[in-house]
Amino acid sequence: MNEMDRAMAIIIRPVQDDDWPAVWPLLREMGKTDAEARVRERVEQVGRRDEHFLTVALHGTSIAGYAWAQDYGAHIRSGQSTVRMHDLFVAPSYRRCGVGTQLLGAVTAWATERGATWLEWQSGQAALSFYERLGLTGDPCPDPEHPFFEIVLTATD
Ligand SMILES: CC(C)(COP(=O)(O)OP(=O)(O)OC[C@H]1O[C@@H](n2cnc3c(N)ncnc32)[C@H](O)[C@@H]1OP(=O)(O)O)[C@@H](O)C(=O)NCCC(=O)NCCS
Repeated sequence: MNEMDRAMAIIIRPVQDDDWPAVWPLLREMGKTDAEARVRERVEQVGRRDEHFLTVALHGTSIAGYAWAQDYGAHIRSGQSTVRMHDLFVAPSYRRCGVGTQLLGAVTAWATERGATWLEWQSGQAALSFYERLGLTGDPCPDPEHPFFEIVLTATD
């Protein structure tokens, strides 16, 4: 992105069905996709479900990245709840422009608004510097290749 492009605001908004042509390449690059039609169907279903947050970062009319998180709901005894971030992805040409930070901020805000106790995710090695810059360090236990991150959103007893 050049300087003028950088100045254009990033807009974070929920995914829409007609985003598909731009979203599919991002999902493929994130990896482990099965047949396009099946992925598309799941994306459309998840996009309509209240306990999921599937959001895109728009730069003009281009989709620069996306994030997906899921609220697992209240624990039956404690009432405490976890939101898990499954995906956070920024298209290579938009990296190092603050898009990932904005998407993670949107996921955190959504989880907080829902009253979740914790936001958790696991990260690959390539993203550790990104989280470190935000002051976040993962726990290498039990999977050192995919450290576990947890942010406490509401006070726990
Ligand atoms: C990790 C990822 C989401 C970061 O997105 P991004 O939009 O580039 O992140 P930001 O621009 O908000 O980065 C903020 C800061 O984090 C640090 N950072 C980000 N990526 C970094 C990298 N690859 N190496 C070192 N530092 C990095 C930088 O300090 C950066 O600030 P700076 O550019 O001013 O120096 C993106 O690289 C990505 O999609 N990677 C592939 C998928 C992935 O690993 N997702 C995470 C799964 S949990």
